[in-house]
Amino acid sequence: MHPSNGIVTTIPNGTFVENDTTEIAVLDHPADALRNLERALKSREAIIGVVGLGYVGLPLALAYATQEFRTLGIDLSKDRVAHLIGMKSYIEDVSDETLREAIEAERFEAQSDFSSIGVADVIFICVPTPVTPHKDPDTTYISHAARSIAEHLRPGQLIILKSTTYPNTTEGLVQPILEEAAARQGLLLGRDYFLAFSPERIDPGNKRFTTENTPVVVGGVTRACTEVASFALQQIVEHVHTVSSPKVAEMEKLLENIFRSVNIALVNEMARLCDRMSGVSLWEVVDAAATKPFGFMPFYPGPGLGGHCIPIDPYYLSWLAREYDFETSFITLSARTNEEMPFYVTDAIVRAIATQPVRLPDAKVLVLGVAFKKDVNDTRHSPALKVIEQLWTKGIRHISYSDPYVPDLVIPTQQGAMELQSVPLTEEVLRQHDVTAIITDHSAFPYSLIAEHANVIIDTRNGLKNIPHHREKVMLLGSGRF
Ligand SMILES: NC(=O)c1ccc[n+]([C@@H]2O[C@H](COP(=O)([O-])OP(=O)(O)OC[C@H]3O[C@@H](n4cnc5c(N)ncnc54)[C@H](O)[C@@H]3O)[C@@H](O)[C@H]2O)c1
Repeated sequence: MHPSNGIVTTIPNGTFVENDTTEIAVLDHPADALRNLERALKSREAIIGVVGLGYVGLPLALAYATQEFRTLGIDLSKDRVAHLIGMKSYIEDVSDETLREAIEAERFEAQSDFSSIGVADVIFICVPTPVTPHKDPDTTYISHAARSIAEHLRPGQLIILKSTTYPNTTEGLVQPILEEAAARQGLLLGRDYFLAFSPERIDPGNKRFTTENTPVVVGGVTRACTEVASFALQQIVEHVHTVSSPKVAEMEKLLENIFRSVNIALVNEMARLCDRMSGVSLWEVVDAAATKPFGFMPFYPGPGLGGHCIPIDPYYLSWLAREYDFETSFITLSARTNEEMPFYVTDAIVRAIATQPVRLPDAKVLVLGVAFKKDVNDTRHSPALKVIEQLWTKGIRHISYSDPYVPDLVIPTQQGAMELQSVPLTEEVLRQHDVTAIITDHSAFPYSLIAEHANVIIDTRNGLKNIPHHREKVMLLGSGRF
């Protein structure tokens, strides 16, 4: 990839700045760095860099490529980069076709090192933000990416952090790393280069809301940073909402995800109460409440949270809160309530086995769906993994799963890794298993066949809601028969 020739800038003492990878000219006025970047974006001469090509980064890079930007994607995973070079997408929302078109048009290139990052005018950081085993934020991926970018920092660049994280990561962690490199060149943040935070809202598998029609929020370290970051995002997103600082944008993202965590915890708790009471199905209750046209939004119970966001984000905020002698009891309680769900489901499966003429160690359990939500292949933090691990811990040795999106699965247990392969969902397979547990309600599952041929069904998603027959064998979460 050749350096962008759209970006020119000046530096405080008015001399030329050069580095190995980029041609840089001098402008008359310092504000030209901003205007020039905007011009380069408008003319499509600006090069977009995306660091971390996962569920967030790859669709983002392709969104820019589709809008005729040259896009450089960097991922440390050589395996992922090899897939991309071979024009094979590993993210369902990005088709091989879209990838091929972008590569053939020389609009997208994937690399596994940062040697070319200096050519990028706008750089998005889309790396993971997991928690440590003790549930503290692990921001090492962000700092590693920031350091790699800092090594190639040059005037005119805009860096936008997209990874979900606690307030003050952009200014407290990324900014000092960039500033150290910038100081060596005499560059000033907000004048010669720019930094902003813009959280990601992608909803993998969602066909209605895509990158283009999902509004995004952005907050820059300075006003100029916000302005230029907003302009960069407007090239691929219809509506960009600016806020006064990266901290507001960081907190806003946590609010979005914690809002879901709290509401899901609420219905999970109510589902458990309905199970205790019997005679009231929470599914019917939620559907009835959802007829209210204002002030209510339906959330449904389930086997627990999964994915890379909602199970993790409450911990990012509660960790930060402790620094301010503040206990986020409500938020932490929601995380704990949701984390208990896979254990609750496991107990229900064990009780279902007890209704069958089989000893626990001989029981055969079929788990339907191991992705963390319907119609995706992402198994990160999936409650199905916890359920399988817990069944194993309780001495159940014959566990199979079926998932059209996940051909194989490795689950760590205390006795070593369990390696499983998805089984085909046939009448015979259903009949062979003592208990079938619907953990993820993929649209592709043949629900009528399941109702017909499974012996006992644990339904944690109301996957069988449209199947009126054989209700006597269904133990539905939150219905009083679980
Ligand atoms: N998955 C989602 O639906 C979603 C939605 C909104 C926000 N987010 C947030 O976006 C961020 C990324 O999530 P994701 O789901 O795309 O993660 P992912 O694991 O799918 O992708 C991250 C990629 O970054 C790469 N990587 C790690 N360190 C790197 C480095 N230093 N340099 C270059 N590449 C590096 C990894 O190899 C991986 O391919 C997280 O903070 C997540 O919370 C995710």
